[in-house]
Amino acid sequence: MTNKYMIFVANWKMFGGLNSLNSLRKVVKFLKNFKKNNLIKIVYCPPNTLIRPMTKKLRKSKIEVGAQNCHENNDYGAFTGSVNSKMLKSVGAKYVIIGHSENRQAGEKDKLINIKIKSALKSGLKVIFCIGETIQQKRKKITKQILNKQIQIGLNKIANKKKILIAYEPVWSIGTGLIPQSKELFNTIDFIKKKIGNLKVLYGGSVNPKNVTELKSIDNIDGFLVGGASQDAKKFIDIIKKTYN
Ligand code: 13P
Repeated sequence: MTNKYMIFVANWKMFGGLNSLNSLRKVVKFLKNFKKNNLIKIVYCPPNTLIRPMTKKLRKSKIEVGAQNCHENNDYGAFTGSVNSKMLKSVGAKYVIIGHSENRQAGEKDKLINIKIKSALKSGLKVIFCIGETIQQKRKKITKQILNKQIQIGLNKIANKKKILIAYEPVWSIGTGLIPQSKELFNTIDFIKKKIGNLKVLYGGSVNPKNVTELKSIDNIDGFLVGGASQDAKKFIDIIKKTYN
């Protein structure tokens, strides 16, 4: 039985329209009636188009809203198609995911991630900082080296890390149904925690209502960053319920 404070982040990625917000009613109701609701935090990170309507829908609930990325520039500027952290904050976001592997694969480098994190913190957002190795890096047994580099550069010259959560998401685990072996995952999270001190570390990558029973038994995990399964309210609720079973 888990009796620990846990954070559940729903990353909707590029999915969802206004009608998807109807499913939140179930989650709000669940949270209200859940006996251990004082132990959990739920954060929804929808596409930017849904941040404002979602914050309105969740006004009376404890569920918070975040974004999935931001531009590194703190000020407004001529950056067509981009949105910065200040703008996200102004429409109700409290969090932003930065360094997601889908953006790293699209060319986002550690240095840019570092600037984005600084900008988000300056705007008063909490940061969910994603790190993780690819399958090639895992096979070469350089996972720790890679994570170390991502952490060193990503958090370079950030003295106050209180508003940062780490999300360890092995790239090979995202959307594949594969999760690391429990012992391996414990050791990797232990390694991360030793590097960064007292920060909370979430696990992400194919978390679902079935494998969460195994994942929750890894006691250095502080929560989950859920992709696919978070778009289905029932599955997301099941993940939370089973974490506390
Ligand atoms: P899946 O849960 O779909 O594997 O996605 C994980 C993820 O990328 C969350 O940020």
